[in-house]
Formats: sequence, C-alpha cells, structure tokens
Amino acid sequence: MSPQLMNIFYQSHAGSWFFTLLFFGVSYFMLTKQNMKAQKITHMILRLFFVIMVVSGIGMLVGYQFSLVFVIKGILAIALIGLMEMILVRTKKGKEAGKLWIPFIIVLVLVLLLGFNVISF
Ligand code: HEM
Repeated sequence: MSPQLMNIFYQSHAGSWFFTLLFFGVSYFMLTKQNMKAQKITHMILRLFFVIMVVSGIGMLVGYQFSLVFVIKGILAIALIGLMEMILVRTKKGKEAGKLWIPFIIVLVLVLLLGFNVISF
C-alpha cells in the first residue's frame, strides 16, 4: 500500500476515535435527558463515525499486512461498537443495559492500549 494512502487511513482513524466516543457519550446523555430528537441525531452521527473507524481501521490492517496484534485490536473494536449500539438501543427501549457498562469499559481500555501500542507483542 502506498505511504500516502496509509497516511490517509491513519489520520482519519486517529482524528475520529475521540469523536466516536464523544458522540456515544452525548447520545447516551441525551437519552437520560429524554431529548429524543437530539438523541436520534447524535446516534446517526455516531453511526457515521462507526463507518469511518471500521473503513480506516481495515485499511490500516491491510497496510500492516494483518499483523496479529492489530487484528485482535480490530476484533475488540468491532465488539466495542456492538456494545455501544446495544447500550443505546436497549436503554432507549427501556430494557436492562447496566451490565453492559463493565464489558464496555474493559474493551475500551484494551482497544486504546492496543491502539497506542502500550500493549504490543
Ligand atoms: C470504536 C472503534 C475504535 C476505536 C475507539 C479505536 C481506537 C484507536 C486508537 C485510539 C488508535 C491509536 C491512534 C493513534 O495512534 O493516534 C487506533 C489505531 C489503530 N486501529 Fe483503531 N479504533 C477503533 C476501531 C478499529 C477497527 C474496527 C479496526 C480494524 C478493523 C482498527 C484498527 C486499528 C489499527 C490497525 C490501528 C493502528 C495502530 C498503529 O499504527 O499504531 N481500529 N485505534
């Protein structure tokens, strides 16, 4: 893969992960405030960021020739996206979602540590 394309994937990923978490936080906060219109909009933007993260993440995986540590990070990150979606949708439907916060925190910490190469092997 050309260094320029790899750089595009890396910059989009590095520039989007914080906003992904931010829109998840705001979307959840809007749920607790019962502001359903703002919740719907922020949830839609969050889903757009999911797409950016997955596309740029897979792009980098190809560039790194599927190195094991980043494949594991990618799988955990996709689980993280699933957890965010489940927390929002279950809470919106009034279903029990409290237990999902523990795996969410654990997987989030792992994804960040792997992403920033704190954990590497
Ligand atoms: C919500 C989902 C995700 C979050 C919060 C996240 C977070 C991060 C963070 C914080 C970094 C480090 C960025 C930096 O150096 O500034 C990173 C890098 C990376 N992520 Fe993700 N990511 C997510 C999704 C994905 C997915 C779905 C994949 C692959 C399928 C992926 C693959 C990678 C790879 C390959 C790197 C490169 C690490 C490096 O070059 O050191 N990520 N991610």
